[in-house]
Amino acid sequence: MEIKTVGVIGCGLMGAGIVEVCARAGYDVVVLEVNQALLDRGLARLRGSLEKAVARGKASQEEADRTLGHIRGTLSLADFAACDLVVEAAVENMETKKDLFSALDTVLPPHAILASNTSSLCVTEMASVTKRGDKVLGIHFFNPVPVMPLIEFVRTILTSDETMEAARAFGASLGKTMVTAKDTPGFIVNRLLIPYILDAVRVYENGLASREDIDTAIKLGLNHPMGPLTLLDFVGLDTTLFIADAMFEEYKDERYAAPPLLRRMVIAGQLGRKSGKGFYDYR
Ligand code: CAA
Ligand code: NAD
Repeated sequence: MEIKTVGVIGCGLMGAGIVEVCARAGYDVVVLEVNQALLDRGLARLRGSLEKAVARGKASQEEADRTLGHIRGTLSLADFAACDLVVEAAVENMETKKDLFSALDTVLPPHAILASNTSSLCVTEMASVTKRGDKVLGIHFFNPVPVMPLIEFVRTILTSDETMEAARAFGASLGKTMVTAKDTPGFIVNRLLIPYILDAVRVYENGLASREDIDTAIKLGLNHPMGPLTLLDFVGLDTTLFIADAMFEEYKDERYAAPPLLRRMVIAGQLGRKSGKGFYDYR
């Protein structure tokens, strides 16, 4: 199956990055947001990322212009009627994702593949509201999408070999390295990452060390590009809380239990970089 047109749902942190890498690879991309202001903000973030790529010599100006020419923003799901593949990157909420999957199933052509960029949620449950379970899988990108080289595929017990083959060809065309996981909460990366990040919050919450020292210790002691609290600000505290709650709900394992501080920071609107303040101040 040849993929020419890709649909992306959500133009947030991840959606904008997914749109960018697909358009750079030459796909025509249509991206949906809930309102014009959020669409404009997402597309502005995407343009900023391309400008950075040009400034760093990772793309030519001509390539950046060509990339932008492949992208069309929309507020209407009806514009997805010509998509061969859709990657859903809306908020980490099962009801939102199921509503989208059910609506997409009626709009998309029969051959189209329907993927979720979910970090933790059950892909089989999303497939269950469609009539194309064999064409549903998880395509999990990493943040920042243009820079991180990995795609984690999530194969459900319904996903067909043909769908996996088409997804692998798509991932290869984006220049990504691919791994495959079964449809269990958190897959490979977040199964390991989330307990680590939550433990870092617990260490901070319990007063064992300052946030700067926790981050410096991990950065310089383990050679990580970012300490865990900086990474949490980068991923988004809201998204991390949604992921932790979903994983705790399924595993009932205290390693996935959100620390009270994390929940309170989200309630207070301290979502990390995207809101200007999280563990650190970005304003
Ligand atoms: N296109 C292509 N390349 C780009 C680019 C773009 N749009 N934007 C930046 N780059 C390149 C830069 O040119 C640079 O390359 P060189 O080093 O060769 O010059 C490289 O990407 C890094 O860019 P920066 O110098 O701007 O940034 P940095 O060196 O400060 O690194 C970072 C930033 C990549 C984010 C790094 O801090 C990092 O790797 N942090 C950890 C990120 C991480 O762990 N992500 C996973 C989060 S978990 C997740 O995603 C899963 C989930 O479900 C929650
Ligand atoms: P985000 O909050 O930055 O963006 C989500 C966007 O989806 C928002 O702009 C929102 O307006 C939009 N949206 C919500 N409902 C919608 C709908 N019905 N139709 C169209 N757009 C809708 O979140 P994000 O960090 O981009 O996360 C998106 C998904 O990617 C989540 O499932 C998350 O778990 C996953 N993910 C996140 C990261 C990360 O580091 N943040 C990494 C990998 C995967």
